[in-house]
Amino acid sequence: MASYSSSSLVFLCSFLLVVSCSLAKTSPRPILQVTKDAKTLQYVTQVSQRTPLVPVKLSIDLGGPFMWVNCERSYTSSSFRPVFCETPQCTLLNSFACATECLNPPSYDCSNNTCAHFPDNPFGNIGTSGLVWGDVLAIKSTNGQKVLPVITVPSFYFVCGNNILDVGLASGVTGLVGLGRKNGSLPAQLSSYFKFDRKFALCLSSSTTSSGAVFFGDGPYTLRPNVDASSSLSYTPLIINNITGGSFVGEASPQYYIGVKSIKVNDKRVKFNESLLSFNIDGEGGTSISTTSPYTVLETSIYSALVAAFVKAMPKNVQKVPNVAPFGACFSSKNIGSTRLGPAVPFIDLVLQSKNVWRINGANSMVKVNKDVLCLGFVEARTDFTPLIPVVIGGHQIEDNLLQFDLVKSRLGFSSTLLGRSTSCANFNFA
Ligand SMILES: *[C@@H]1O[C@H](CO)[C@@H](O)[C@H](O)[C@H]1NC(C)=O
Ligand SMILES: *[C@@H]1O[C@H](CO)[C@@H](O)[C@H](O)[C@H]1NC(C)=O
Ligand SMILES: *[C@@H]1O[C@H](CO)[C@@H](O)[C@H](O)[C@H]1NC(C)=O
Ligand SMILES: *[C@@H]1O[C@H](CO)[C@@H](O)[C@H](O)[C@H]1NC(C)=O
Repeated sequence: MASYSSSSLVFLCSFLLVVSCSLAKTSPRPILQVTKDAKTLQYVTQVSQRTPLVPVKLSIDLGGPFMWVNCERSYTSSSFRPVFCETPQCTLLNSFACATECLNPPSYDCSNNTCAHFPDNPFGNIGTSGLVWGDVLAIKSTNGQKVLPVITVPSFYFVCGNNILDVGLASGVTGLVGLGRKNGSLPAQLSSYFKFDRKFALCLSSSTTSSGAVFFGDGPYTLRPNVDASSSLSYTPLIINNITGGSFVGEASPQYYIGVKSIKVNDKRVKFNESLLSFNIDGEGGTSISTTSPYTVLETSIYSALVAAFVKAMPKNVQKVPNVAPFGACFSSKNIGSTRLGPAVPFIDLVLQSKNVWRINGANSMVKVNKDVLCLGFVEARTDFTPLIPVVIGGHQIEDNLLQFDLVKSRLGFSSTLLGRSTSCANFNFA
């Protein structure tokens, strides 16, 4: 693959026709290549940052408000600049704290009059404070069919974390890239710099050896053999949680929520208290989508009801076997057939407020724990705290589905499994 550094792009732009350069400036479509880490099940990507550019590996946090990088690991760059307090860039990242004066030697965490934020790592369940900086960011681009030269944002704003935040990150990863519903997130900063609509699409691969993608901007999102995954999407509104989940009470959450009204297994309604799914006055409730949970996490009563309904709907000749943690319903794979859409098991429908359904077939419901055993890939929310979000749709359930987050129309476009169209999220041509 050809790649151009920022300086060679500048060189090109100063010598080519003005027309082609302004075109190049308004129509790039950044893309991230995303690989599932086998050990942690994190979705890992790589961008380049700083001057001179260095590769930076980051885990994807769909509901994260911004990008943070561990700057304590010898961050060096001649283009590294602090974001001063009370500037528009500080507002962009919704920073509400200011580090007024630092008497230590200047560094990534010592700078006067610089805005501050709270980077956190949901994988290690740990957070800290850090300063907000701007630096060069370089990212692959695409025409929706193949990879084009790297494009550059001269000042991409992010937060500096430190070694404290390393807990639980996949090997080689030094930060998180937030794709959340905030003006400082990667999709928001890319749309605003390159001037395209606030839309991006997640297509995560279930394979740990072939990559999936995050496409920024509109389709096409072409997967081999020539399937445009941006066509024939179903839509449901994205809901904003204005009450909880932000950095402070009353700040809107960066997470993407959709309205699930009920759950069905083989077309039969699962019995649980469905009012748990609606938001209450404290902002608890709703269904969010997450790349930091490898499996969908359900509030205890919903989880128990789903497991019971699923076990009941399983054909009688399929034998239930002892559970394998963290799962609560495991089966011998002996009498489970295999289909194009994965193991032939009862299908699970999330019935949406838009009246359509998000169908979860075997490929997205079952996890193969060994050659003889398949388990229902949903997990129970930890009981040591009240779950704020009763349904968190996790990685396994969104793999090989294209999800388009359209902030202009405030809606989610979803494809259902691409396996049904004889392709998968591993089929973008990154070669
Ligand atoms: C911050 O300002 C103080 C003076 O108020 C100065 O002594 C110090 O060197 C400055 N620190 C940095 C990191 O620029
Ligand atoms: C985010 O950006 C949009 C578009 O520029 C603007 O209308 C909105 O007020 C911003 N939101 C916040 C919370 O700053
Ligand atoms: C949050 O606020 C927006 C804008 O005021 C509104 O459209 C949306 O319905 C609110 N979300 C919830 C869950 O109340
Ligand atoms: C269902 O859940 C709601 C919200 O937690 C609660 O107020 C209501 O009493 C519950 N209804 C039943 C029948 O348990």
